[in-house]
Amino acid sequence: MVARPPVRIVVDRMKVEDLPAVHVIERESFSTPWPSHAYRQELENNRLAHYIVARWGDEIVGFAGMWLLVDEAHVTTFATRLAWRRQGIGERLLLALLDLAAARGAHEATLEVRPSNTSARQLYEKYGFKVVGVRPRYYSDNNEDALIMTTESLDGRSMRQRIADLRAEVATRPDIEVGDDGMPVRRLDAAPGSTAAGSTADSIDSTGSAGSTGLDAPSAPDPRARIIRPSGVTRRQL
Ligand SMILES: CC(C)(COP(=O)(O)OP(=O)(O)OC[C@H]1O[C@@H](n2cnc3c(N)ncnc32)[C@H](O)[C@@H]1OP(=O)(O)O)[C@@H](O)C(=O)NCCC(=O)NCCS
Repeated sequence: MVARPPVRIVVDRMKVEDLPAVHVIERESFSTPWPSHAYRQELENNRLAHYIVARWGDEIVGFAGMWLLVDEAHVTTFATRLAWRRQGIGERLLLALLDLAAARGAHEATLEVRPSNTSARQLYEKYGFKVVGVRPRYYSDNNEDALIMTTESLDGRSMRQRIADLRAEVATRPDIEVGDDGMPVRRLDAAPGSTAAGSTADSIDSTGSAGSTGLDAPSAPDPRARIIRPSGVTRRQL
């Protein structure tokens, strides 16, 4: 058997041609997925928006986005592919967002998250986000409150040290071992019986309407926060 050469995760800018793959992850991750045209609008028309993807070879295994509003970075969306969770991809994406935010002069990063979304909350807490407030009944699907989580100053000493330590730790992680099915061998976060395999870009409904593809929408509440979009675009649930 010939050993496969290691393929590393690379984080770079989201492009329009990435949207079919992004939409697959949307549908796996959110019960009210944003349609691809919403992302296209963000990429092409919103100068505040910054969207990134994590690539493993040619495959997109996660994405994240934020708006840079004066001196604040507001995280708008964040997800990794179901079969690729708990492999450090979320951390790489968050590091990239925070780097970009700091480089563009943001003093803090903020986001909303459901209290019930323990995976995301733990990730954000690990990276220095703290709960600073609550938006009561923020989520319209189940009236769940949103926690507002914000970092301390991105250019402050303790945050810079935290990021440096976490970056060093992420850099020492072994490459993700991928099996013959093209999926990670080690899967800590997949729900029993769940599979992300077979989710192909070909099966995407570009309108994002539920039930029109072979992919099941998650039954849990949509974990994203709600953001206010630029003029002419309505509020969405993240
Ligand atoms: C939240 C999410 C992006 C994390 O992505 P990921 O690639 O699995 O994250 P990582 O592997 O980099 O995990 C980093 C940290 O996140 C936390 N974390 C991630 N998954 C977790 C889980 N299932 N349980 C507890 N903590 C978890 C841990 O702190 C972990 O660090 P550790 O491995 O040292 O314990 C992913 O679970 C996801 O896409 N969820 C659905 C969409 C969503 O909820 N988005 C956030 C909206 S606010």
